[in-house]
Amino acid sequence: MSEKILVIDQGTTGTRVAIYDEEGKPVQGGWAYREHSQIFPKPGWVEHNPLEIWEKTLICMKEVLDRSRIRAEEIAAIGVTNQRETVVVWDPRTGQPLYNAIVWQDRRTAPITDELRRGHFELIYEKTGLVPDPYFSGSKIRWLLENIPGLRDKMGKGEALFGTIDSWIIWNLTRGSPNTLTPDKGGAHVTDYSNASRTMLFNLHKLDWDPELLELLGGIDVESLPLPRPSSERDAYGYTGPEVNGVFNGKSVPVTGDAGDQQAALFGQVGFDEGDVKSTYGTGNFILLNTGKNVVKSKNNLLSTVFYSLEPGKATYALEGSIFITGAAIQWLRDGLKLIEVSPEIDPLAESTDDTGGLYFVPAFTGLGAPYWDPYARGLIIGITRGTSRKHIARAVIESIAYLTRDVIEAMEKDIGGRIRILKADGGAAKSNVLLQFQADILGVEVQRPLISETTSLGAAYLAGLAVDVWESLDEIRKLWRAERVFKPQMDAGRREKLYSGWRAAVKRSLGWAKE
Ligand code: G3P
Repeated sequence: MSEKILVIDQGTTGTRVAIYDEEGKPVQGGWAYREHSQIFPKPGWVEHNPLEIWEKTLICMKEVLDRSRIRAEEIAAIGVTNQRETVVVWDPRTGQPLYNAIVWQDRRTAPITDELRRGHFELIYEKTGLVPDPYFSGSKIRWLLENIPGLRDKMGKGEALFGTIDSWIIWNLTRGSPNTLTPDKGGAHVTDYSNASRTMLFNLHKLDWDPELLELLGGIDVESLPLPRPSSERDAYGYTGPEVNGVFNGKSVPVTGDAGDQQAALFGQVGFDEGDVKSTYGTGNFILLNTGKNVVKSKNNLLSTVFYSLEPGKATYALEGSIFITGAAIQWLRDGLKLIEVSPEIDPLAESTDDTGGLYFVPAFTGLGAPYWDPYARGLIIGITRGTSRKHIARAVIESIAYLTRDVIEAMEKDIGGRIRILKADGGAAKSNVLLQFQADILGVEVQRPLISETTSLGAAYLAGLAVDVWESLDEIRKLWRAERVFKPQMDAGRREKLYSGWRAAVKRSLGWAKE
C-alpha cells in the first residue's frame, strides 16, 4: 500500500530528503542530506547555483530510497518545503537557469527597497503584510529584469519563468510530465500561498498576485510567475516526470504538499489553534504565531504572512518575527573568538555558572531584525568586570538568544492583546537544555520540545499526506505530536524582570551604532 510520504526540505545551507510513515515517524534509514555551495560574488551578495541544488536533491532522493529499502510503490506523495524568498529564473525550454539564485540574505537590492520605503510603504504593508526590505523576492526579480541583458524580452516570449525554490524543485520534479496544473510550461509552474506571501508581490487578502505590485517591482509579467495554490493540493500540482524516472523506477508520484520552511515547522508542531506559537532556533530564529483567519496588522514591527492553506481561496495566517543572528553567534564563539572548539561545548560551559555576573551580549552582527529593524545596530558585550570569564561570555550568548525571542513574543502579545500559552521549540539550537530552560524562565511560559525535531520536513509531510488521505484531518495529525521534554519556568518574577530590563538597556546601546 502507498502510505509513505517523501519530503524534500531545501534549506539555505543544504537539502534534506526524508521519508515518513503514516504515524508521522521517519522510516529507518530514510533520510539523506547534502550541502550546496554558498556563492558571495560581492560584499552583501549571496547566491546559490540552482542546478547544483537540483542535482543534490536528486542524489538525496536516490540515497533515501536505497538506504530505507522503501519501494517507489510505497510512496503515496511528495511534499516540498524550502528556504523562502530566494529567487530562481530559468528557461522552460531548456531547464537552464538564466542567473544564479539570489538568496534571501542578499542585500544588493537595498537601493530599490529604500526607494519603495519612501514612496510606497503603506501600500506594500497593507497588501502584503511585509515591510519593503531586500529580504523579500520582489526586489530581486526587479533587479534581474534591470540587470540581465535580454531577460525582459525573454519574459515577454514565455522563455523565462520566475519562482521561489519550491517552484524550481516542483518544476524539475514534474518536468516533461503530461499531468500537471500548467501543461504549457514544461512542468508544474506552481507555488503555494505561504511561499507566495514572502515575495512582496502577493496580495495577502485576495490570495493572488497583485497587478499594482507587479508593476512597481519592474513590470513583471504575471505569466512568468508560478500559479499560487493551496499548501496541500488534493489533485496534485503535478506528477513526477522523466527527470526522476531513475529514482522511482518509472513510477509517477504526485506532488501534493508545498510550504515555506518556517510555516511548515509550525505545521509540524501542530500549531493549528489560534495563538499557537513556535520558535525555530537555527542560524537565526524565526517565530510564528497562528492568527487564524485574521490578517493581524502588527503595530509592533512584526510581519503578517500566510501560514498555510488547505483549500483554494482560503488561508490561515500568522504573525512572524525574524531574528537574523542567534545560533550564528555560537558559531562566532567557536570560529571567531575560538572560545570553544565545537558548538555543543557551549552548554556545559554556560551551565557551569548560574548567571552571567551582570554581563550582556547583543548579537547584532548584521543589524537587528524584528522587532527593532535597525540595520545599523552592531554587536556588543557590556558589563565586563575583572571577574568575567569564558563561562560568563558563553552564558551571555545563550541568554541573548532567549532575550531576543522574548522581544518578539512581547511584540506578538501586544498585537494580539493577550499572553501566549506555550512556546514550542525546534531547530538545531533547541537541543540545548540550558537555552530552553532560560527561555522558559525569561518568558515565564512553558517551553516544549517535540520528540521529532525535524518539524519542518514533518510539516511538509503532513501537508502532502492530507491531500492523499494518509491523514484525514488536522485532528488526526494533532494526536501524533509528542513532547520530548517540557521546560517549566522556575525563576521568580522579580529576578526575571530585572534581568530583562538589563537586556533592554544593553540593546539600546547597540542601536544605530554603525550609522555614519
Ligand atoms: O526566510 C528564510 C528562511 O526560510 C530560511 O530558513 O532554515 O533555510 O535558513 P533556513
